[in-house]
Amino acid sequence: MPSNMTHLLLLLLTFLSLVSFATTEAQDDPFYLYQFCSSDKTNPNTSFQFNVNNLLSNLSSNPTGNAQFYNTTITGETPSDSIYGLFMCRADVSSQLCQQCVLDATLKLSSECPLSKQAVIWYEECMLWYSTALIFSTMATTPNSTMQNSGHVPNPESFMSLVFSTLNQTADKATIDNKKYFATKEANVFGSQTLYCLVQCTPNLSPHDCRTCLNDAIENISGCCEGRIGGRVLFPSCNVRYELYPFYTIPSSTSTPKLLPETKTSHADSNFSEDPVYLSHNCSNKTFSASNNTFQAYHTTLLSNLASNATSSKKFYKTNVSDSVFGLFLCREDLPSGLCGDCVQNATHQISLKCDRSFHEAIIWYSHCMLRYSYRNFFSKLEISPMFSELNTTNKDKEQNFFTVKLAKTLDQTAIQAGDSDERYGTNSAKLNDLQTLYTLAQCTQDLSTEDCKGCLGIMIGTSIPWSRLGSIGGRVLYPSCNIRFELFQFYRDIDKTTGTPTPENVHLALPCVNVF
Ligand SMILES: *[C@@H]1O[C@H](CO)[C@@H](O)[C@H](O)[C@H]1NC(C)=O
Ligand SMILES: *[C@@H]1O[C@H](CO)[C@@H](O)[C@H](O)[C@H]1NC(C)=O
Ligand SMILES: *[C@@H]1O[C@H](CO)[C@@H](O)[C@H](O)[C@H]1NC(C)=O
Ligand SMILES: *[C@@H]1O[C@H](CO)[C@@H](O)[C@H](O)[C@H]1NC(C)=O
Ligand SMILES: *[C@@H]1O[C@H](CO)[C@@H](O)[C@H](O)[C@H]1NC(C)=O
Ligand SMILES: *[C@@H]1O[C@H](CO)[C@@H](O)[C@H](O)[C@H]1NC(C)=O
Ligand SMILES: *[C@@H]1O[C@H](CO)[C@@H](O)[C@H](O)[C@H]1NC(C)=O
Ligand SMILES: *[C@@H]1O[C@H](CO)[C@@H](O)[C@H](O)[C@H]1NC(C)=O
Ligand SMILES: *[C@@H]1O[C@H](CO)[C@@H](O)[C@H](O)[C@H]1NC(C)=O
Ligand SMILES: *[C@@H]1O[C@H](CO)[C@@H](O)[C@H](O)[C@H]1NC(C)=O
Ligand SMILES: *[C@@H]1O[C@H](CO)[C@@H](O)[C@H](O)[C@H]1NC(C)=O
Ligand SMILES: *[C@@H]1O[C@H](CO)[C@@H](O)[C@H](O)[C@H]1NC(C)=O
Repeated sequence: MPSNMTHLLLLLLTFLSLVSFATTEAQDDPFYLYQFCSSDKTNPNTSFQFNVNNLLSNLSSNPTGNAQFYNTTITGETPSDSIYGLFMCRADVSSQLCQQCVLDATLKLSSECPLSKQAVIWYEECMLWYSTALIFSTMATTPNSTMQNSGHVPNPESFMSLVFSTLNQTADKATIDNKKYFATKEANVFGSQTLYCLVQCTPNLSPHDCRTCLNDAIENISGCCEGRIGGRVLFPSCNVRYELYPFYTIPSSTSTPKLLPETKTSHADSNFSEDPVYLSHNCSNKTFSASNNTFQAYHTTLLSNLASNATSSKKFYKTNVSDSVFGLFLCREDLPSGLCGDCVQNATHQISLKCDRSFHEAIIWYSHCMLRYSYRNFFSKLEISPMFSELNTTNKDKEQNFFTVKLAKTLDQTAIQAGDSDERYGTNSAKLNDLQTLYTLAQCTQDLSTEDCKGCLGIMIGTSIPWSRLGSIGGRVLYPSCNIRFELFQFYRDIDKTTGTPTPENVHLALPCVNVF
């Protein structure tokens, strides 16, 4: 009988992929978070296992009628064989994405914990829970999970008190104002940034239980996420989340435009461009006495060591001279080594001109590379200042639309990918509509740990992008330790997965006119 189930799921999968081909909506994949499979297991080929499969197939076939929540019972021959299950989608996700999410959840559970007597799985867009216990009328906070953004806020006390009071108001909204057991709420923070909060309970709870569950979850935020720029608590009966970027769609009164406005910078480049474009530099305000020959000699040696190492196919290199001057360069990971070398050569030359050799420390940014030096050992330290950003912002707060949510989600996933990779480099693309594709890139200096890389990029996404005032899509933010870029055209080379190098035929092509603004 399990093969019947597989059959049904396959049919469903085929059906759903046909549906998604027919639609003009942008593609979106459910994002897996966490699962719990009880260690209390049944034996294979028992009627209980058969019932679990039945339940999962019943659940996966039920979001068809736009249902965002559904519960079902498979009655066993003996009461202990009965099994109770439910799923819930985040109230703002489309019914198509809800269906896909529930289907993914059932497939993952049936392949990864086929014999468990209880299981819960959470995705960003939905959750699914089954148990031999009657779960419909009780409030449950176990099994549970918490997640936190790696980034830390600079002023945790005032930030967390805003988080708690806003989540609290969001919980009131969900249980008192709209009684939908789902609510989102925004608050202003750090002057120009926005705090985004979301709470949701399964609709089978009583209002009192829903509020109790949310209170427990909000209280648990202090355990997982104190001082973090984002966090969430996942219970079977409810969940809460806050971030400094939009992660849900606010129902909009104005219809979203068909095409997104694109940022038109003076130096937009494509994945073919070969010239290192100078972006910005910063010289520290402290200087050594101009007559300090020791520092100047070390400084000269350092820059020449950096320049010569850049031509030997390294994308990142750090070095020091006599433990007195420290320096590094970082090239965009996708560049062929020739272009990296060109950029670093240019950078060492320009940094000497722009900040003369008496400065304590300096940094220079190009489209292709970054170079910095200091009298202090800054290696492996997460540094977010000085900052350079090139974003198109408007003065007026805009409503969050599908596109900003998609951009934030794509950047967030790119940041995770960069942190998890050995090169601390990640790229991503996402189709926004029939005509537009979003391209994103995130990179950290390779001396950062995975956690610090994600932390640096998390702070950047949360605090340096004014989400509610983005005028158009396209731009970049640069810190000493990490950087992000996003555009509506492909500005990076696809790295050949097998060799880890850019494919040669793409390296020396002329700049196509279509990408020049
Ligand atoms: C369960 O049943 C299938 C066929 O339905 C069989 O191939 C398999 O060996 C059985 N497994 C156990 C553990 O009995
Ligand atoms: C799912 O179960 C319900 C009863 O719990 C039943 O009415 C419905 O027909 C089932 N659906 C499928 C597709 O098995
Ligand atoms: C769904 O849950 C409610 C309680 O919230 C219960 O009365 C109902 O029987 C359940 N439906 C199924 C099909 O199990
Ligand atoms: C979360 O789950 C753990 C067991 O994994 C449990 O000890 C803890 O009490 C749960 N938290 C809440 C708030 O129920
Ligand atoms: C949250 O709201 C409850 C009542 O709704 C109140 O008692 C509690 O003090 C509030 N907590 C915070 C941190 O605002
Ligand atoms: C999480 O919530 C449970 C239930 O309310 C509580 O016992 C526990 O102390 C909370 N943990 C933290 C860290 O707040
Ligand atoms: C900035 O955004 C506004 C509003 O979308 C747009 O009209 C303008 O052209 C954009 N500016 C640049 C430099 O892209
Ligand atoms: C140098 O810059 C730092 C901040 O970057 C500032 O706190 C300090 O006062 C400045 N010093 C001088 C002499 O301008
Ligand atoms: C000169 O530079 C060296 C090397 O960076 C440094 O250790 C020393 O303190 C500097 N001396 C003065 C007088 O600034
Ligand atoms: C790289 O720099 C080191 C000093 O950090 C130097 O000894 C070495 O010769 C350089 N390598 C190349 C290939 O230039
Ligand atoms: C640096 O680049 C600029 C233009 O991008 C070019 O004019 C200049 O000659 C280059 N300098 C060096 C030293 O490569
Ligand atoms: C460069 O970009 C174009 C379109 O933006 C794309 O078709 C092409 O595949 C890209 N090449 C590489 C190597 O990424």
